[in-house]
Amino acid sequence: MKNMIIMLFAAAILAACGGEAERTWVVTSPDQQVEVAVFTQAGKPAYTVSYKGNVTIDTSYMGFEFRGQEPLTGNMSLTNGQLSSADETWEMQWGEQREVKNQYNLLKLTVKETAAPSRVFDLVFKVYDDGLGFRYEFPEQAAMEGDVVITDELTEFNLTGDHKVWWIPGDWDIYEYLYNTTRFSEIDAISKFVEGDHLGQTYIPENAVNTPVTMKTDDGVYLSFHEADLTDYAGMTLKVDTDNFGMISELVGNDSGIKVKTSAPFVTPWRTIQITDRAGDLIESNLIVNLNDPNELGDISEWFEPIKYLGIWWDMHLSTGTWDYASGKHIATTEYAKELIDFASENDLKGILVEGWNTGWETWTDPEMRDTIFDFTTPYPDYDIEEVVRYGKEKGVGLIMHHETSAAVSRYEERMDTAYQMMEKLGIHAVKTGYVGAVIPEGEYHHGQWMVNHYQKTVDYGAKYKVAINMHEPIKATGKRRTYPNEISREGVRGQEYNAWAAPSASPPEHLPIVAFTRMLGGPIDYTPGIFNLSLKPHKEDHPIFSTLAQQLSLYVVINSPIQMAADLIQYYKDQPAFQFIRDVPVNWEQTRIIDGEIGDFVITARQERGTDNWFVGGLTDENPKPYTLELDFLPEGKTYKAIIYKDAEDTHYIDNPTAIDISEREVTADDEIVVDMTAAGGFAVSLMEQ
Ligand code: NOJ
Ligand code: CA
Repeated sequence: MKNMIIMLFAAAILAACGGEAERTWVVTSPDQQVEVAVFTQAGKPAYTVSYKGNVTIDTSYMGFEFRGQEPLTGNMSLTNGQLSSADETWEMQWGEQREVKNQYNLLKLTVKETAAPSRVFDLVFKVYDDGLGFRYEFPEQAAMEGDVVITDELTEFNLTGDHKVWWIPGDWDIYEYLYNTTRFSEIDAISKFVEGDHLGQTYIPENAVNTPVTMKTDDGVYLSFHEADLTDYAGMTLKVDTDNFGMISELVGNDSGIKVKTSAPFVTPWRTIQITDRAGDLIESNLIVNLNDPNELGDISEWFEPIKYLGIWWDMHLSTGTWDYASGKHIATTEYAKELIDFASENDLKGILVEGWNTGWETWTDPEMRDTIFDFTTPYPDYDIEEVVRYGKEKGVGLIMHHETSAAVSRYEERMDTAYQMMEKLGIHAVKTGYVGAVIPEGEYHHGQWMVNHYQKTVDYGAKYKVAINMHEPIKATGKRRTYPNEISREGVRGQEYNAWAAPSASPPEHLPIVAFTRMLGGPIDYTPGIFNLSLKPHKEDHPIFSTLAQQLSLYVVINSPIQMAADLIQYYKDQPAFQFIRDVPVNWEQTRIIDGEIGDFVITARQERGTDNWFVGGLTDENPKPYTLELDFLPEGKTYKAIIYKDAEDTHYIDNPTAIDISEREVTADDEIVVDMTAAGGFAVSLMEQ
């Protein structure tokens, strides 16, 4: 795809409307609907955002606090405003679409301190039809020599109403929460935090939420706040002022009170606000990836292609086997891995994940032991990794390596080079990493700058040794997959695993129709769908998953990820007609349309397979049944398709009869429609193969 950047001065959108001393700079989106005004008030830089003529973000100030320097919160003036525009199309190497349009208007301003020490930074706004991003760019300067320690970033996002909000607490270690749906004034993150409900150490400093946080105004406008290109900086939570509908950045720090340690020149991540009229447009938005740098790794398709995979994994979560050898129930054996490879190869799944392959699991959560236990290279005696790799190659199935670090991160860093070299030597091109527990070194948090840099190190080592990274207990996704296409997927969500744990932890049916409009805006999710034995019996009693079989199929389309697990034990896939959908569904797409949806209620997604004219549609609903008729007008005119329809049957019930499914086939064209009524916690999946 030819990239074309047109830089032009858009003088028409540069307006001066302030008094003599204070000039207001205005930049609008290409379609003129989003308008950002930047100005100073009493020497403080501020911005407002309006959408279709209505103020959406009211006067919001910006500033910084540093260690050993006066706060940078006043005595500032704006100079040197420059406007430009870009309109380019770039190609996504894998993912939810091939071509990505990147069209915006840009305003760059220099913010200068009017008194000593005369510090200076540039403020850059990029305004798109579906929202905006802005960031701070600090040049090298005399007033900022040596280490720069940021103790607070003070970026405000002041709302104009008591919006409906879908939020999780601003935990510094883990994002694995159920979403709360409340009015903004009712956000109470601290009381919603339940100690012990999570893997990992948890710390929530004040009433703060994690991003992406998504909202709906009473006028029906959708807003989502997040960040893009989080690089060598701390993750941002948002502290909420429920009385005044205000939010202010609260960076994740460490126990020494440092939020970010850097030196000039440096740039912050982009602070992003997505604004749309349709809930589905939030998912279709490319704002987050667009605000990242172009691909720096080149074409990695020689060693990584999107795949579906099986795993020695659900067994451990069901307790039908263990990670550790000493238990006598160790399940990561050569023999079992080969059985999975056979099944994968017969069903066109290209990968298998093996957890518990390596020594150390007996004491992996032991506080005394976890710092040293894993070396990431020594297999248990009943697992012959070389033989498994060899057998997999013979059958066209690759191995996904597993590195659980127990969050002993400095130790992992010492051992990474050897471990990644071993993967390259064996021809293993993907790794699932994990960071369960409190971070070692003590005093650091999963979402702080030190860990942000660690996660990047895994991506860098991965690039060096041809390994793609699927992080669990990760830093949130901020679109960096554009720059590093080996950053393939991650957890960072309350995933399927919770449905296998203690009965009260099963996620309620509204969870996924919220996740699609919140967490998923950041990027791909390794949710691990495809549980067919939804009652979990005989492995667990009175422990249903709140989902139907048709809904499990829908997740392969609704959830965006270039790796999709078929997570259940293979015995539950054998002789199952519904498994045909998992065989057929692709993991790489030409284009994506969110046909319909409402946050927390339902979502309907259609995606065109990359390189063909086949389409796949998935829909799911919350605890309310959703009668739905799918119009096929997204199909090209004049072509005939074979539709295979997998939908909830008349007697499907997500607790009493979750596996009842109605599978049918018919010929269709763009003029047809398909009735796909969904039962409570149900869904549907349709494959449309061009004839
Ligand atoms: C947490 C991960 O999310 C899960 O998938 C994995 O099985 C365990 N850690 C053990 O590494
Ligand atoms: Ca996890």
